[in-house]
Amino acid sequence: MKHWYDHAIIYQIYPKSFQDSNNDGIGDLNGVRERIPYLQKLGINTVWLNPVFVSPQVDNGYDVSNYFAIDPHMGTMEDMDNLIKAFHKAGIHIVMDFVLNHTSDQHPWFQDAIKDPNSLYRDYYIFAGKNNKRPNNWGSFFGGSVWEPDPVGTGESYFHLFDKRMPDLNWRNPEVRHSMLEVAEYWLAKGIDGLRLDAFIHIAKADLRQNFPTEDNDNQPVVAEPFFANLPQVQKWMRPFCEQIKQDYPDALLLGEAASASVNLAVDYTAKRNHLMDSVITFRYFTEDDSQTDPSFSKQYQPKQLDMTAFKQNQIVWQQTLTGISQPTLYWNNHDMPRLATRFAKNDTQARSLAMLMYLQRGIPIIYYGEELGLKNLEFTKADQFKDKSVNNFIKSAEQAGKSEQEALEMASLTHKLPARGPMTWNNAKGNGFTTAKPWINGKKVDQANVSDEINDKNSIFNFYRELLTLKKTNLFQNGSYYLLATDKNSYVYERDLGTESAIVAVSLSAEKTKVDIPQEYVNEELMAGEYQKKGKELTLMPYSGVVLSRK
Ligand code: GLC
Ligand code: CA
Repeated sequence: MKHWYDHAIIYQIYPKSFQDSNNDGIGDLNGVRERIPYLQKLGINTVWLNPVFVSPQVDNGYDVSNYFAIDPHMGTMEDMDNLIKAFHKAGIHIVMDFVLNHTSDQHPWFQDAIKDPNSLYRDYYIFAGKNNKRPNNWGSFFGGSVWEPDPVGTGESYFHLFDKRMPDLNWRNPEVRHSMLEVAEYWLAKGIDGLRLDAFIHIAKADLRQNFPTEDNDNQPVVAEPFFANLPQVQKWMRPFCEQIKQDYPDALLLGEAASASVNLAVDYTAKRNHLMDSVITFRYFTEDDSQTDPSFSKQYQPKQLDMTAFKQNQIVWQQTLTGISQPTLYWNNHDMPRLATRFAKNDTQARSLAMLMYLQRGIPIIYYGEELGLKNLEFTKADQFKDKSVNNFIKSAEQAGKSEQEALEMASLTHKLPARGPMTWNNAKGNGFTTAKPWINGKKVDQANVSDEINDKNSIFNFYRELLTLKKTNLFQNGSYYLLATDKNSYVYERDLGTESAIVAVSLSAEKTKVDIPQEYVNEELMAGEYQKKGKELTLMPYSGVVLSRK
């Protein structure tokens, strides 16, 4: 069966940072609605909205305290209904973030569970242990233990994979599975077109009685992924959930966030026969090369290079293994990692050629708001702007190695996720057209790229993205087969082929002039980033340049 999402081109909007319509410093739903003409102009056809449910905002909306209402900072339910309508009128599909592994500790279920140990909701969460002793040594993704003592003093502890104010739901409990399905169906009934299933690979946990083995078994918390990622029960519990959704909404896109999933798990999660997701987002594309880092202090927030050879290997493996199974997602950045123009692209030319390289492959592009302007991470000049203890620890470690606090802050600004969530820059005014108030997130803008300048400049990166997306929508780049050409680490070259037509995408990854051989008949320029020359078979690419050439 054909689905709209076979041809999805997704634009990820972090609503708090996109457009503030009432000038309180926080982006909101009406702001997003105002900017629909911009999205149409860019040429995307789907929007993924990060969470907009009621939330104490401990983790910017990923801590939900009411799934059936819109956070007042974002607007009202009426605003949401209007936004859905307006998107559809504009021919844009809308996918909402759906947080199913945990809730906020302010959620009535959790509040009830801690009020009364005999509450029916106690079993909605994971309580274990006694005498306030941690049941095991498992560590949280956000630092420290996954266990936090029950605040009302039963001696038990509750489990949280992320912040301690985000208790994990107990998916073993059929009531939980039923309740979360109800939430999903509520939103689909409102007319949204799909769900991005947040952290779904973590809903199953191993036997809680075991420690993750460490050298000296000293009970220090360790992130024990094999005990809480991709366990077989994830599939067992997600299957009825996904099946029911597909039965009621056959055209709903189920996009799973599967950060640590290998390609083989991605096959399991997306193969039609398994009745699970349509596509998954892995974080495994970007193997880093840390050989340039300083070993005398923590590597955590030191900038690293992309290991280009490993990256190419990752890409070909995902492209090839998912052929005939599902579409890979194609992306360079999201709200959990630094921006493309900060992390990978050495200059404007490379920001373009890397986009060309990624999005013309087989799969579903996901463009992170502002990426199409070449936007960079904000620069934070104070440690507390990161709101993350691990950054304080990093600074300490850097200072002990003789670095200044400022040097450490610069590094963390280039590598941490929070500076990647800066306000969209619409124009040159103070507040960049995002807000006239003080933005909820504060930091120095590293560049002045903005929409109003770029939209009118035919050589801008914005207009490059428009051309790129026009090309992406053609039959060849939607349906052509994918074939990687053998080249060394200085270039990335592949062919898309439909038999009757074909094109070669050739991108230099090098700071030097690079030559590759491609068949003579590829001479029609479809898209260009930087500069190149073609003589017979020989294609010369200027530093970081890229070109798409089709056959006569
Ligand atoms: C996902 C989100 C991330 C969030 C986490 C907990 O990984 O992308 O931003 O912190 O889940 O919900
Ligand atoms: Ca606002």
